[in-house]
Order: sequence, then structure tokens, then C-alpha cells
Amino acid sequence: MENHDITVSQLYDRFVAPTYGRFPIHPKRGKGADLWDENGKHYLDFSAGVAVNSLGHAHPALLEVFASQPADLSHCSNLYQPRGQGELARMLTEQVVQAPGKCFFSNSGTEANEGLIKLARRFGEAVPAANGNPRREIISFLGSFHGRSTGAMAATGQDKVRSGFGPLMGNFVHLPFNDIEAFHQGLTEDSVAVLLEAVQGEGGVRVATPEFLGAVAESCRERNMLLLFDEVQCGMGRCGELNGWRAIGETDGIIPDGISWAKGLGAGFPIGAIWFKDRPVGEGSLCDLLGPGSHGATYGGSPLACAIAKVVIETIVSERLEKKAAVLGDKIINEASRRELPMISAVRGLGLMIGFQLDSEAIEAMADSAGKDRAASLVVVDALADEGLLTVPAGSDVVRWLPPLVVTEAEIDKAFDIMDKVLNKLIT
Ligand SMILES: Cc1ncc(COP(=O)(O)O)c(C=O)c1O
Repeated sequence: MENHDITVSQLYDRFVAPTYGRFPIHPKRGKGADLWDENGKHYLDFSAGVAVNSLGHAHPALLEVFASQPADLSHCSNLYQPRGQGELARMLTEQVVQAPGKCFFSNSGTEANEGLIKLARRFGEAVPAANGNPRREIISFLGSFHGRSTGAMAATGQDKVRSGFGPLMGNFVHLPFNDIEAFHQGLTEDSVAVLLEAVQGEGGVRVATPEFLGAVAESCRERNMLLLFDEVQCGMGRCGELNGWRAIGETDGIIPDGISWAKGLGAGFPIGAIWFKDRPVGEGSLCDLLGPGSHGATYGGSPLACAIAKVVIETIVSERLEKKAAVLGDKIINEASRRELPMISAVRGLGLMIGFQLDSEAIEAMADSAGKDRAASLVVVDALADEGLLTVPAGSDVVRWLPPLVVTEAEIDKAFDIMDKVLNKLIT
């Protein structure tokens, strides 16, 4: 029996660790891009669990696999070879990346990135610097977000995420994003890998330029460094292609050495994955560098997680949801400029990963009204939620739309109407 002697917010205050700045919204039920709270209040969910619910809530294909797979097998150990894990690895390799390689499965984006970091360390041992010392330095970028474990946090290029937890894992260098010259200057004999988001999510929806991606890939080739793409947020169709970096254009020739996925891959069920390219390293291949006993995850690649991820990819591919995301993304950018929304100085992004940049006047006005410690993006996201639109802050000055890939044009129009109304109200 449910116990309602205490409100939901009180439950959180008293029993849940305060690691998140949470909005007082109590979701209960969802369908597609619709979400309802405990009291039946309706929201248009353009947060999608921060880019997780790629198929929306309660997609029939997901409901079917949630019902059927556990009746066969939910979990078994990685001491064995359940067929589904092999099939998902094949699908990621042949259908998503479309280049020879192998996969490892974990449970989250952070864990997936930890795997890439370990790959880089092993590679640096296998292919040392000219003086024979292992190469250890991993380059990532300012504004990036790669997770909150000690390794992934060290890779993350945001002080607010890292501060207070030192000393962090060493040998990470953070360079300015989209700055080719600074990148070239930052390379050393010790540099072994570059880890990057083709579209930075938490950093404010910042899209890598094709020139920057091209220059980074070329340096990686020339200096035998690993090119590692964090596709946790921008991958799996969100940006208009199955692979986020391929949505950027003029990057056809780029195939990274390693890729991490999570979020949209499980569409609501926890799964993370990494892919390693099949390319020679010494006598062997990069994709076999992490050999038996070198890495693992008890839950990683369980029959249930793999069955779900397979259905997610099948659904995205068969319904061409990534192409739909590209078309809708263009529509959103055009509509945003047609509407001339108040308080917004720029709208950027790719596919259904869109950032609304708040202008400086708005930021000051919000700070005055809400107190200096409350970021302007939070004030706006809060006000939008009040009117029934769930969005996500990205940093202090960007409001993010991350609707499910199944969102409709009518729902996008409705979201714009709410934005219009709320921003006009906030500005007065
Ligand atoms: C680009 C990127 N990498 C890694 C992560 C961490 O993923 P998780 O929260 O699943 O550990 C995130 C989460 O927001 C992300 O956006």
C-alpha cells in the first residue's frame, strides 16, 4: 500500500542525498513525448531523461521486449556467451559505425568513457614515445562532460564538476574546443589520445566544426594517437545521423578508434557500450588490446539490456528516426529565427539536440529577480516547466531541448508557443 503520510518533496529532503538540484516535479506516467505528474498535471517532455528516452515514453516495441525477454533470461554472467550480446555488438559495428571493430558493454556513459580511458592507457604502453616511456596524456576539451567517476571527471573540461575532489587522475589536458591552433600547440610527445564530443551537450550544445574535427583526426593519424568520440549524448540518431560526428558534414572519411555510447542506446534502460576499431597495434589489433582480465562489468551486456538496445536500434533504423531528427532540427532552428523569441540571442545544435542561448540582458535580469546564486537557465527552465514544458539547462546560460526522436511537428509547435508565452512573461 502506498504511504502518503509525507509529501514527495519531504521524502527527498529527508531520505535522498542532495547531489542534484532537483525541480519539484514528480513524474508518474509517460507516453511518447507526454508526461504526467502525481497530480495529473501534463508536461510536454522535451528533456527526455536528458537525451535518454529516444523512443519516448512507453514505446510499444520497448514494452514488448520488457515483457518478453525477462521471461527467457534477464541476466547471466559474462563468463558465458549469451547470443544477444554478440548480436548487439555486430549491429553496433556493422550498422552503426560501419567499420570493423569490437564492442564492450557497461551500464552508463561514465563507465563507457572509463573503458576508453583504459584503452588509451594500454595503447600508450603498447606504442610508447620515442624515448621508450609509455604515452599517457589524454587531450579533452574545455566545456566537455564525460562523467563523474574519478577518471571521467578528470577528463571533463569543467571546473565546477571537478573542484573539491582532487587530486584527480592525472595526465589529462583540457584545450579550447574548436580551436585548431591551440590544439596543435597543446600536443606533446606524451599525447596518446583525444577524447571529444562532436556536439558538446552539458557544455551548452556546441557543435564541433568540420575543420576542427578534420584537423584533430589528421593529427591523430600523423602522431599515432587514438581518436575517441564520446557519443553518449549526441549519438544514436539524436543529431540527425546514427553517429553524431557524421551529422556535422564533411567528416565522411573520419572513423574514430574508439566510441562510447549510453543514454539513447537503452532509451530508458541502463546500458553503456564502447567500440574499438580493428586496426593493427604491434602484432595484434586495437580491438583486442583489452584482453581477458583487463576490464569487466558484472551487469554489462546482460541479455535484457542487449535485447532492449537491439530493439532501440532496429526501431530507429526502420522508422528512420535519425533522418526525422535532422528534418525536425532544421525546422526548429528556422522556426526559432522566424519567431524572434525574446531573451534568446542564438539557437544552435544539430537534429534534436538544440540549445537556446540566453542573451546577456536576460541573464542579468534573471539574476536580479532570482538572486545571484540561481543560474538564468534554471530560472527559465523552471518557468517553462510551470507552463508544462520540460527542458534542460546546459550551463548557466543555455536552455536545451532534447525531445524524444518520436516527437511530432505539432508538439514542437506547442513547445514554441509555451516558450513564446513564458519568455514574454519573464521579460516584463
Ligand atoms: C557526453 C556525455 N558523456 C558522458 C556522460 C555520463 O553518462 P552517465 O550519466 O550515463 O554516466 C554524459 C551524461 O550526461 C554525457 O552527456
